[in-house]
Amino acid sequence: MYSRIIGTGSYLPKKILTNKNLESMVDTTDEWIVERTGIKQRHIAEDTESTSSMAINASIDAIESSGISSKDIDLVIVATTTPDQIFPSTACIVQNKLNIVAPAFDVQAACTGFIYALSVADNYIRTGMSKNILVIGSEKYSNLLDWNDRSTCVLFGDGAGAVILSADSSQGIISSHIHADGQYNDLLSVENNQIKMKGNEVFKVAVNTLSKLVDETLLNNNMDKTSIDWLVPHQANLRIIKAAAKKLSLPLDQVVITVDNHANTSAASIPLALNEAVKDGRIKEDQVLLLEAFGSGFTWGSVLLRY
Ligand code: UT7
Repeated sequence: MYSRIIGTGSYLPKKILTNKNLESMVDTTDEWIVERTGIKQRHIAEDTESTSSMAINASIDAIESSGISSKDIDLVIVATTTPDQIFPSTACIVQNKLNIVAPAFDVQAACTGFIYALSVADNYIRTGMSKNILVIGSEKYSNLLDWNDRSTCVLFGDGAGAVILSADSSQGIISSHIHADGQYNDLLSVENNQIKMKGNEVFKVAVNTLSKLVDETLLNNNMDKTSIDWLVPHQANLRIIKAAAKKLSLPLDQVVITVDNHANTSAASIPLALNEAVKDGRIKEDQVLLLEAFGSGFTWGSVLLRY
């Protein structure tokens, strides 16, 4: 049995913080941010918006687009690093608000969280334990930022994306690959509730690791890079995305890019990008998609699927 994406959804807070806005907050320039990261703006949640409220909005959108009812959902998985509280899990809050009667849990793998969550969900479907799974990535990183630290506060944003994965006998997720290596945990971490990152060192490991991940994913499926129709990468930095596209010899118009408008939304970035390209008609049925991410831990992973 395959896990097929039958619905996608997203939610972005209305409030937008531009690079120009940041110029008046820290010693930075629009030019530096665009050149080094590709980011032009990010969405920032209001105090009244939370990781769970954004997750719920994205889920409603995904459920609507899937054509199934929330009653049909038999598992809820939320990938997040910024839960509303330590417990109950964000997944339980979502499950309750959407009147879903099903097990629910969170997955924490930082920016790779959505890939980890898809991998877990895929295995529940493959083994016949679940038929319709709501998989969400939702993050409120604005809560984790030191707004005086120009090296991190310009990089992140808030938002949520969701998909409905459904058992399908013909196509869906072809393979998923997840990895972790805790030896680099001091390069990117949260200390005293604020993100600390040695950006340059993370950058180098990210580019090298993602390159190997592309090889591993293709080799595992005996597939050539020309089979990939779309790269849907985690959106941390346009330069990292371009390196992955180059590795695949993919022109940038076959890469879904949202980092310019969303910045890095961690576990939410892939489902946000996926939803955008599905809803605007770029991603079409039967196309082959490569989803990949790298994040704190370090964690990294990919999902290859036929949409
Ligand atoms: O999603 C999870 C994984 N995270 C990532 O993948 C992020 C990986 N890292 C990156 O994306 C990049 O390393 C950054 C965007 C974070 C930084 O870009 P960089 O080209 O690696 O810059 P850098 O850290 O080497 O800093 C270069 C200079 C420094 O000044 P000096 O020492 O050369 O005088 C920084 O102090 O840029 C300075 N700088 C800034 N200048 C203006 C750092 N932040 C800023 C800023 N505005 N916001």
